[in-house]
Amino acid sequence: MIGVFDSGFGGLTILASLLRDLPQYDYLYLADSARAPYGARSADVINEFTLESVEWLFHEGCTVVVLACNTASARALRNIQQRHLPVHRPDRRVLGVVRPSVEALAGLPPGAIPGVTLPSDTRGAVAVLATASTVASDSYRLELQKLAPGIELIQQACPMWVPLVEAGELAGPGTEWFLRQSLAPVLDRPRPPTRILLGCTHFPLLLPALRPLVPAGIELLNQADIVAARLTDWLQRHPEHAARLTRGGRRRYTTTDDAGWFAERGERLLGHRLTAERVRLR
Ligand code: DGL
Repeated sequence: MIGVFDSGFGGLTILASLLRDLPQYDYLYLADSARAPYGARSADVINEFTLESVEWLFHEGCTVVVLACNTASARALRNIQQRHLPVHRPDRRVLGVVRPSVEALAGLPPGAIPGVTLPSDTRGAVAVLATASTVASDSYRLELQKLAPGIELIQQACPMWVPLVEAGELAGPGTEWFLRQSLAPVLDRPRPPTRILLGCTHFPLLLPALRPLVPAGIELLNQADIVAARLTDWLQRHPEHAARLTRGGRRRYTTTDDAGWFAERGERLLGHRLTAERVRLR
């Protein structure tokens, strides 16, 4: 079974692309809604919450876990991959969203190798819009420097966007004002970006309001499609992990907060009915 983790329901955008591209596998989605948003929390706390969530997914039978959450990927993935898994779970894998997104920002194919795969765009600027914690981690810059050091990265924290999505304020003059506030430092510069990545699972829900504010020549990257393509590629390169994944068409939706609240938002986002269960991680 593939586990998909996000701090909230926004990661369902990633799950939807995984279900489209890799429908044969069983999936377990976990939203840590009771402790969301993660975006303004400290690195230590994000690490602790993410590890707890990943361990719960393992306990429920997942052998591969995707951290759909940018904030969790930026703050906790390295620790989980380098310290936790080798000691406690050597047979399991945890994958994040930052590295595949950076490959796409740099115009590189999935699984690009630093110093070996030549970037298609070696100059210019690209941008990532994310939570305050993701920007503070500098993960996007560090990854891009390894892959395509000639490309300038504009990082913009959009602290009000997650609360807007959580409150269902996806359009209207107030929302537009907040969108413009965060977009201005990205767009009003001598060298504007050629690509913008929405580096937070909640942000694609703002796309209808956001698109008219971004000049037509700037590409808005869809992180869900990027992550699905990357996981497909990874499973092909790791048949030993693909072989262990169960294939029963099973989809289970879990949240650490109210199941009805989550199901309602999830249904709106996925466009079909779903049943959610509330779970306790310990
Ligand atoms: N899901 C988080 C992300 O992708 C954003 C929401 C939060 O702050 O918890 O960065």
